[in-house]
Amino acid sequence: MDRAWCLLGLLLAYASGKKLWEVPGAHTQPHNIGKLHWEPECQYQLRHLQDSARISALLPPRLEGHWVSTGCEVRPGPEFLTRSYLFYYNRLFKAYQFYYWDSSCHDPSHSLVIKGKLRLRQASWITRGATEADYQLHKIGIVFHSQRAMQEISARINQTSGEGCSGLFPPGRSWAPGVLYEVLSAKEGRDCTAALGFAMHELSLVRVEKHYEPLLQNESSGSRAVEELYLGDIHTTWSERLHYRPTGYQRPLQSAVHHVQPCPACGIVYRSDEHHPPILPNKAELPLQLSGRWVSAHCEVRPAVLFLTRYFIFHGTNRTWEGYYYHYSDPLCKQPTFTIYASGHYTKGVPASKVRGGTELAFKVTYARVTPMDQVTLTMLNSSEPGTCGEASSWSAGVEQDITVTNGCLALGIKLPHTEYELFKMEQDMKDRSLLFIGERPTDGSSPDRPEKRPTSYQAPLIQCAGAMGIFSKHSSPNYLAKEGNNGNETLKPLPVALLLSFTAMQLLRWA
Ligand SMILES: *[C@@H]1O[C@H](CO)[C@@H](O)[C@H](O)[C@H]1NC(C)=O
Ligand SMILES: *[C@@H]1O[C@H](CO)[C@@H](O)[C@H](O)[C@H]1NC(C)=O
Ligand SMILES: *[C@@H]1O[C@H](CO)[C@@H](O)[C@H](O)[C@H]1NC(C)=O
Ligand SMILES: *[C@@H]1O[C@H](CO)[C@@H](O)[C@H](O)[C@H]1NC(C)=O
Ligand SMILES: *[C@@H]1O[C@H](CO)[C@@H](O)[C@H](O)[C@H]1NC(C)=O
Repeated sequence: MDRAWCLLGLLLAYASGKKLWEVPGAHTQPHNIGKLHWEPECQYQLRHLQDSARISALLPPRLEGHWVSTGCEVRPGPEFLTRSYLFYYNRLFKAYQFYYWDSSCHDPSHSLVIKGKLRLRQASWITRGATEADYQLHKIGIVFHSQRAMQEISARINQTSGEGCSGLFPPGRSWAPGVLYEVLSAKEGRDCTAALGFAMHELSLVRVEKHYEPLLQNESSGSRAVEELYLGDIHTTWSERLHYRPTGYQRPLQSAVHHVQPCPACGIVYRSDEHHPPILPNKAELPLQLSGRWVSAHCEVRPAVLFLTRYFIFHGTNRTWEGYYYHYSDPLCKQPTFTIYASGHYTKGVPASKVRGGTELAFKVTYARVTPMDQVTLTMLNSSEPGTCGEASSWSAGVEQDITVTNGCLALGIKLPHTEYELFKMEQDMKDRSLLFIGERPTDGSSPDRPEKRPTSYQAPLIQCAGAMGIFSKHSSPNYLAKEGNNGNETLKPLPVALLLSFTAMQLLRWA
């Protein structure tokens, strides 16, 4: 009962954007918290990101214009794609989705042209900083880029869609380049898209961010504006994605006019259409060299209401890892709520079987500490039942407590020890920084605690801290929150933090 009340309080505080109480000392700015633990080069990295990227969110978001992928995107499945979305002043939109066989987005399989209308509604109170929108689909066309693509997809449409759909691909129709098949037509009441696992719910949650990039040395003055369009996330479970309403985001698109430079992919995607899909350069797969320190590039948002930044240290010599998870109540990561420190060890990586270009590992969380940073979290932890989360009734703001002794923290959904099955990938960005992609968390808030639940897509990348240790290692480690537990008992399973909050949100929605 107490716990439910606290959760409500926590959620309401998040939703209203207000702290319920002010706590002296719990009020630190992000990089001040950082000072407690972060190595100088990572502090530098983060401060640099925060200073140079003076982020503002445009409210209401202005979508008009042309938005493009900045690289090859990976969706759960996996699906490899690039996107090019145009929004017009009369609320109509035309969205291209280009799909590929390979993880470099070099070998196109088919393209979708999606036309419809979008209407912005109100600010989302589940995902602070986002705007909710309604959309209608008018038409969707598909163009196949090979005989094989046509065979595979038309067979799927034939098998899973209704009568009106089998006629789309009459017997004996063979592939010809440039033919567009209309798989959805609102006018004719036809929708054959289910077989594609296609949904456009990403349009129901939008956010536009603007920030300023430092200029290149040879440029004269001022700074360059970058605009990013965040659209709703795609459910990690295939069967859920057709009706899932997003509460988090996918990798953002960037404005075709105001994007980070250089961005070779932006230009290629910008110039493409359904008959000329973007062909990105084949990328050499980088070996996973985890050793060193990695930090979030942005304030990250998770389904449903968590905002956080992450900082990881991997020790390749003995395959141990440490992670800091800084949680906030606001979409710019300025109001801290709590911090988790977790550590453990990880296995040697092997090439991923399902997601080309990825590496599979397992890692174990054996130790964790929690620091409440605001009154709401403090009250929740301090009133948890004895033996379920650190030393009962002895929590105070800004003071760290070991939760290993209680095998985790029930109130936060953390169970120790805990093993997770992971997917990692490394890339180099245009500024030659190393990026580390860690597997997407299951959208249902559960934990990838079995090999079958291993992710097939990635979270926003971490950036290697400048001057990182050069020790070579082929293996890796953690991920989001201190690993949530699962004792196999669905009813008793502690709710992981993300789920905890989204669950409460759903309850409230139902009551409202
Ligand atoms: C699709 O279904 C129609 C009618 O059942 C059939 O004639 C056609 O050969 C099928 N096409 C494919 C590609 O399976
Ligand atoms: C500035 O330098 C970059 C890379 O060194 C180059 O691509 C760009 O064209 C230069 N810009 C101008 C205005 O000279
Ligand atoms: C692993 O190695 C790192 C650095 O080499 C060291 O700081 C850490 O204590 C080691 N961990 C264990 C469990 O031995
Ligand atoms: C935590 O709970 C204990 C026992 O109820 C209480 O004495 C203490 O003041 C609480 N601490 C805070 C910071 O609320
Ligand atoms: C799961 O939890 C329920 C509810 O407390 C309990 O009755 C049941 O025995 C548990 N099952 C297992 C396998 O632990």
